[in-house]
Amino acid sequence: MVEDNCAARLVALFGSQAEVARAFQVDRAVVHHWVKTGYVPARWAGEVERLTGGRISALEVIQEASAKNPVRVKSRPLHAPFGLYPESPAMTQYAPAKRIQSFHPPQRTLMGPGPTEIHPRVLTTMSQPAIGYLDPVFVEMMEELKSLLRYVFQTKNALTFPLSGPGSVGMEFCFVNLVRPGDKVVVGANGVFGARMVENVVRCGGVPVVVEERWGDPVDPQRIEDALKKNRDAKLVAFVHAETSTGCLSDAKTLAQVAHRHGAMVIVDAVTSLGGIPVRVDDWEIDAIYSASQKCLSCTPGLAPVSFSERAVEHVKKRKDRVHSWFMDMNLLLGYWGAGQRTYHHTAPTNALFALHEALLLVREEGLENCWARHQRHYSALKAGLEAMGLKYLVREAHQLPQMNAVFCPEGVDEAQVRARLLAEFGLEIGAGLGPLRGKIWRIGLMGYSCRADNVMLCLSALGSVLDDMGYPVHVGDAEAAAHAAYAQMHARDAQRKKRAA
Ligand SMILES: Cc1ncc(COP(=O)(O)O)c(C=O)c1O
Repeated sequence: MVEDNCAARLVALFGSQAEVARAFQVDRAVVHHWVKTGYVPARWAGEVERLTGGRISALEVIQEASAKNPVRVKSRPLHAPFGLYPESPAMTQYAPAKRIQSFHPPQRTLMGPGPTEIHPRVLTTMSQPAIGYLDPVFVEMMEELKSLLRYVFQTKNALTFPLSGPGSVGMEFCFVNLVRPGDKVVVGANGVFGARMVENVVRCGGVPVVVEERWGDPVDPQRIEDALKKNRDAKLVAFVHAETSTGCLSDAKTLAQVAHRHGAMVIVDAVTSLGGIPVRVDDWEIDAIYSASQKCLSCTPGLAPVSFSERAVEHVKKRKDRVHSWFMDMNLLLGYWGAGQRTYHHTAPTNALFALHEALLLVREEGLENCWARHQRHYSALKAGLEAMGLKYLVREAHQLPQMNAVFCPEGVDEAQVRARLLAEFGLEIGAGLGPLRGKIWRIGLMGYSCRADNVMLCLSALGSVLDDMGYPVHVGDAEAAAHAAYAQMHARDAQRKKRAA
């Protein structure tokens, strides 16, 4: 008799344990374990509902898993005599006034500017037992991690590794190592993060030459070239490839060519671009590039992949002065991340690094080009839906980022209230505008694991329903119909392409 649990039902639906493993992108042993224990762990609930098209609901998975294996961490009651001594009033005077219990974040759909939702495989890996950051097993994993990063950056650069810290640390690492006091740096600034680059140049003692663009426009290669002609002693050009504050793409390849024509090196911010759209470090001859773990790589926040060309490494090595940040000094960090004997530099966030390894492995398994194509596909459907709703994009079509959709909030609609209602009523997070765009735009992210058809459809129907309820004239259902039509067109094109290839 076939058992009636979610694991057995999955096998029946997909035909075999091997097929379930293929669909869920896990090893067969994992599925075998689900079948043996008679339940699918709760963190897989969303994937089960998605991959079975709702035939097994997330709720069924969660209910079954929590009945068979209740995993909720529960804080112990206060004032119970756990310690050797009862706590003295002298100590408790500093204790929090309210009773604090274990933290259980709610389930959210994350479609903002990052962080994104995290694949269950990454979450599972992150919760494995800690090991030391110099453990030989960990050191072996570090080498794999570096090679996976080279793949997503499309580079052979030896200096390619994840820094401990968010994307901002990646930014500072590039500037602090490459900009010497007095160096002129041309910065293309077309949003919040370009402005932060300028700030970094100043703090390194450099001289910024700012080429400012309207927010929503790309960095213009011609204007960068003009600035370089006027500043023949400029050492570097810096710009943001995918400006998250506006959803605008700049042409990194052309900008790098312009910089090199004038003998300057380039620093590229790929925080939002890496994994979502083409980033080709070697082909584009990028000298220094940084990213972040929580955007299209869909890992936990707190790691900043970086890559330096040989030329950039040599430039830093030749510096006569001392890099003014101890923590971010490339030469010191290489003692831990470089090849050869590793020595202590700082305590690496081991579990977060396990997670990044798994997140990158997911990209490797999907294939980088497929990953880029998936972002393009769901963007096309989302855009069709948003435009059918009457919403307008901030950025011209040719420069729109698939992973970051900035659309104007309609006149007379309370922007913040819409976001608050989406969160409260649909568990859906989208982003607000920053700086001069605060209150004017929404930023809808389709990044990494969050970039899926079910999220596109949820976002369109939730946004449509909230706007309709707030009196904005939307035809509820038009947006979903437009997105479905866009998907249908793409399916038809795929089928034709497959037929031609066969
Ligand atoms: C383009 C860009 N650069 C830099 C950063 C800073 O990254 P983090 O917030 O991880 O420090 C962000 C963050 O959103 C970003 O979008």
